[in-house]
Amino acid sequence: MKKYSLGVISGDGIGPEIMEQALKVLNVVEKIHGGIHFKENRYDWGCEYYLKNHKMMPDDGLDRLRENDAILFGAVGAPSVPDDISVWELILPIRQQFEQYVNLRPIKQLQGIESPLKKLNGNIDFTIIRENTEGEYSKIGGKLHANTPNEVVIQNNVFTRFGTERIFDYGFNYAQQKQKKSVTVATKSNAIKHSMTFWDEIGKKFESKHNLQVDYYHIDALAAYFITRPEDFEVIISSNLFGDILSDLGAAVVGGLGLAPSGNINPSGKYPSMFEPIHGSAPDIAGKGIANPIAQIWSVALMLEHLELGNLSELVINAIESTLSNKTIRTPDLGGVNTTEDIGNLIVNNLEKYV
Ligand code: NAI
Ligand code: MG
Repeated sequence: MKKYSLGVISGDGIGPEIMEQALKVLNVVEKIHGGIHFKENRYDWGCEYYLKNHKMMPDDGLDRLRENDAILFGAVGAPSVPDDISVWELILPIRQQFEQYVNLRPIKQLQGIESPLKKLNGNIDFTIIRENTEGEYSKIGGKLHANTPNEVVIQNNVFTRFGTERIFDYGFNYAQQKQKKSVTVATKSNAIKHSMTFWDEIGKKFESKHNLQVDYYHIDALAAYFITRPEDFEVIISSNLFGDILSDLGAAVVGGLGLAPSGNINPSGKYPSMFEPIHGSAPDIAGKGIANPIAQIWSVALMLEHLELGNLSELVINAIESTLSNKTIRTPDLGGVNTTEDIGNLIVNNLEKYV
């Protein structure tokens, strides 16, 4: 029996509700394989923990988490804790300190799901490779003369050669391994004079090592192309902020945030990688049992692929798609009346056929 130690941080809001469904699916995956076991290490970190302990996770949190082979994450954030605290003290330290420098975000129109862009059907399938440790999401900056008419606020963007080269290297190799023909670089070098011209320069350096069609699109135009011709994209390499925005937009084009998974990947394997939906804790629907669990379940599939259990990953995606092929089965975000648990159970039933 091969054992994996799995860190589970369900977090806040809808996090625990969707995680429960994802772990049910993982149990069926174990049965299908017969020779693997995921030992769950659950951590109750998040906003409730913060209200009791004045910190989002214990001081040795990262050391404990590091023992795991992979991490499943739900979502963080609650109205009772400022978002810059909950995000900066839990999710971002994990991504940054575990060098999960690739944020891999597949945008794929699942069978059975209609795009809100009615004329598009079934051909949207691309991956956003987002830099995940620096760029626009840096803690560097500060305030001068706070709360006076002379107040000055500086928020620095950080683009290192090391960090930029490794995300391009990953993105181009990913495209090549997946036998894609093209790579799109999200940029804004016409207006962001220093960091984005540097970004393009590094892109060009890696471009010359690969036989791929490479396009550099300014972020504003690229956002528009996501609406007018999303079928044309295969792999998109982006900075931290641009990738964050593009992936919510991409998710909306293929049916909504409730469907979009992500991997925070540490390619060297030195630290565990972490898998989570791209959405947040959705406080507006938390506790109602109606959150869509598919992004979380698909995140399990991404984790399985990362652990070189690609066949099982495909079975989970097949089970999601066969559930969705019945168009009356939907949570409210997709216009239906089913609960989180209904969808989880139906996916489990579809997956059990492979046991
Ligand atoms: P959000 O993604 O939580 O919600 C945006 C909208 O999408 C809401 O209307 C919500 O109901 C809906 N939605 C999201 N996931 C859904 C699901 N699975 N099923 C059905 N509907 C779903 O983003 P928002 O409102 O900007 O942020 C809420 C909290 O989440 C904040 O505290 C924020 O900081 C945090 N957040 C955490 C992230 C993380 O844990 N990685 C990522 C983004 C936001
Ligand atoms: Mg986001």
